[in-house]
Amino acid sequence: MSDVAIAKADLEKNGFLDLEVDPTMDLVEAIENLKKEKNAIILAHYYQESEIQDIADYTGDSLGLSQQAAETDADIIVFAGVHFMAETAKMLSPNKKVLLPDLKAGCSLADSCPPDVFRKFKQRHPDHMVVSYINCTAELKTLTDIVCTSTNAVHIIESIPKDKPIIFAPDKNLGAYLVKKTGRDMILWNGACMVHEIFAMEKIVKLMERHPDAKFIAHPECEPQLLEIADFIGSTSSLIRFTKESDAEIFIVGTEVGIIHQMEKSSPNKTFIPAPPNNTCACNECPHMKRNTMEKLYLCMKHELPEIILPEHIIRDGIAPIERMLEISAKAGL
Ligand code: 13P
Ligand code: SF4
Repeated sequence: MSDVAIAKADLEKNGFLDLEVDPTMDLVEAIENLKKEKNAIILAHYYQESEIQDIADYTGDSLGLSQQAAETDADIIVFAGVHFMAETAKMLSPNKKVLLPDLKAGCSLADSCPPDVFRKFKQRHPDHMVVSYINCTAELKTLTDIVCTSTNAVHIIESIPKDKPIIFAPDKNLGAYLVKKTGRDMILWNGACMVHEIFAMEKIVKLMERHPDAKFIAHPECEPQLLEIADFIGSTSSLIRFTKESDAEIFIVGTEVGIIHQMEKSSPNKTFIPAPPNNTCACNECPHMKRNTMEKLYLCMKHELPEIILPEHIIRDGIAPIERMLEISAKAGL
């Protein structure tokens, strides 16, 4: 058996093509060539390592990535992000080949809402509409009325008639933030993101005391007590925009550290301090996002594996709530 055939056979176990890459190869050039040769587009999230962000055709937040996946005329979408993002791209462009460099790039938030358990929960609230954060599995989207991202969540909630009760899943922190922001009393699923729950309040307060002119900015996936002391709360794209437009020169950044690459690129003279986690590990890095590497990206494009395959019924039932989200976002100019 050839190396590729063995690696293909092992794909399920490894989640990626575990093949040697020539260490002297210019990976940037090789990936650029593969893009042209295969009419492929690379979509990357802001939490990817900086080299991947730089080689991507588009780097953005979850909403921007979905909009790109829906509109592209490329034959292949290579998703430098996590599994739920690539699944969403596949649902939006079912006739295109969607690749994810490592199938094990999952998401703790998506994992915190198993569809079978959620289905029973939903049955106990038959009058409720379900709004799900895009950070959930494709199957959960089939149990959802409207999907949202952190960029459009307020607009989505406000588009629902006031007398309609809502279940919000799976992120309890984003949900609590939305309850506060919109005044809607929603039932919240008890899920959370491992990265945004690790920030240490005391260390952040100390940093704020040490840098009184700094702005503390946070993603709404952070816990309520952190959002309480934040100077600005927003999705990844809003956080980047805020650092560009603000007069402040120092920012304490309460989200995954990968985002600092774009902040430094657009504001090279400003200082960005990653919000510290509550221990000494690199826990403010998302271990799932960071499973993608330049080597895996190259191998995945070369061999067109691993590919995202979804059952037809999941695409059929899951696409409507995503399209509803895109329609409401377009109306709101997002
Ligand atoms: P946004 O980029 O849409 O703000 O989402 C953040 C996130 O956690 C993605 O996993
Ligand atoms: Fe999931 Fe959190 Fe990682 Fe985003 S940062 S992919 S929500 S685990």
